[in-house]
Amino acid sequence: MSQLCFMNATCELCTNAIRGSNEVAKTLLSEAVKTFVLAFKLYQQVYLRISVSPGVYEDQLSTYFEVTRNFPRERPRVIESNRLPPNWPEAGEIESRRLCLRYQPEGSLVLNSLSFVVRGMEKIGIVGRTGGGKSSLTFALLRLVEADSGNSIIDGIDISTIGLRDLRSRISIIPQDPALFQGTIRDNLDPLHQYTNDEMWAAIKACQISDLLEVPTDKYTKKLDLNVYDFFKDGDLGEWIEGTGLAKWVEYNGSNFSVGQRQLVSLCRALLWRRKIPILDEATANIDSKTDKIMQAVIRREFVDCTVLTIAHRLNTIMDSDRVLVMDQGEFAEFDTPANLLAQNSHFTRLVECVDLNHSHQPPGEN
Ligand SMILES: Nc1ncnc2c1ncn2[C@@H]1O[C@H](COP(=O)(O)OP(=O)(O)OP(=O)(O)O)[C@@H](O)[C@H]1O
Ligand SMILES: [Mg+2]
Repeated sequence: MSQLCFMNATCELCTNAIRGSNEVAKTLLSEAVKTFVLAFKLYQQVYLRISVSPGVYEDQLSTYFEVTRNFPRERPRVIESNRLPPNWPEAGEIESRRLCLRYQPEGSLVLNSLSFVVRGMEKIGIVGRTGGGKSSLTFALLRLVEADSGNSIIDGIDISTIGLRDLRSRISIIPQDPALFQGTIRDNLDPLHQYTNDEMWAAIKACQISDLLEVPTDKYTKKLDLNVYDFFKDGDLGEWIEGTGLAKWVEYNGSNFSVGQRQLVSLCRALLWRRKIPILDEATANIDSKTDKIMQAVIRREFVDCTVLTIAHRLNTIMDSDRVLVMDQGEFAEFDTPANLLAQNSHFTRLVECVDLNHSHQPPGEN
């Protein structure tokens, strides 16, 4: 450690010397310091690696395996005896029979005996008060949480009998708070490198995110060719990445994108993948009405032959759905066309009235 302190202090002395000397001395000293700084950084890396010995890594790994040994595991990703036909689901019919779901074995039911049938190619709006179980229903359909009892059947196949990878590769979801992963936009849209650039650009243009991808990400990499002045002035920032288009950089968890932008990228991915059952869980965070309109237009235009489930917080987005499923505290409350529901004293009518009342208190221009 004393060696580290010594080297730090020497670096500082050299920089001060540079600031006070004439140009020639400055250049010479600058080169010397540049070399010295590189050597120092190399030393730091080697020193730190040596200090954390392999034994420590092994200890940490064995603790990790010990702690996670009793964690519940997901069911098999593939069940060889029950593989899916390549074109499943062809019709896109979804039926849930007395579906119950809870998050913890001792917890209360968040889906309570939910039964409904969605016909192939129907456009279904799912609404209900916050905490009503709408997102939980999507988790159940993707088996992110296993059903407590009851089952869901898609095109005649009980989804609990097939492998998770098979199931999840046939349904696409645009979640309420989509996570993008660190990498380029290309990696995020097409992690398995299955699509051409033209296909990706067609999806990008349909979702109107070309402008977003033109803005380079505010990102620095580690810089190898150090400029000594910059090094001491700005810290070890590295090179500015000018990645745009498909090469635009996405930070961990998509943190350099807003929720609305992440939903558009997620929609773009769903469009590219062209699965029979897309599920859209509308963001509760304030996505602007432009983003909302783009999403709805893409869904209406591009997913005509799909069964689409749209969980809506903005009721106007699902007013032209074929039918609306209203959920109330994890239970099935109503399931009918918007017109029929509005003609009665229904939960749906009360939700619409409640939204109208709130809107009448908003400043003009908001919707
Ligand atoms: N990971 C979890 N662990 C335990 N309980 C959860 C979890 N996620 C959701 N819940 C509970 O399940 C119930 C249903 O939540 P869910 O997220 O499905 O509601 P929602 O209808 O999607 O609400 P919102 O409109 O706010 O998105 C709530 O009571 C919630 O607290
Ligand atoms: Mg939700």
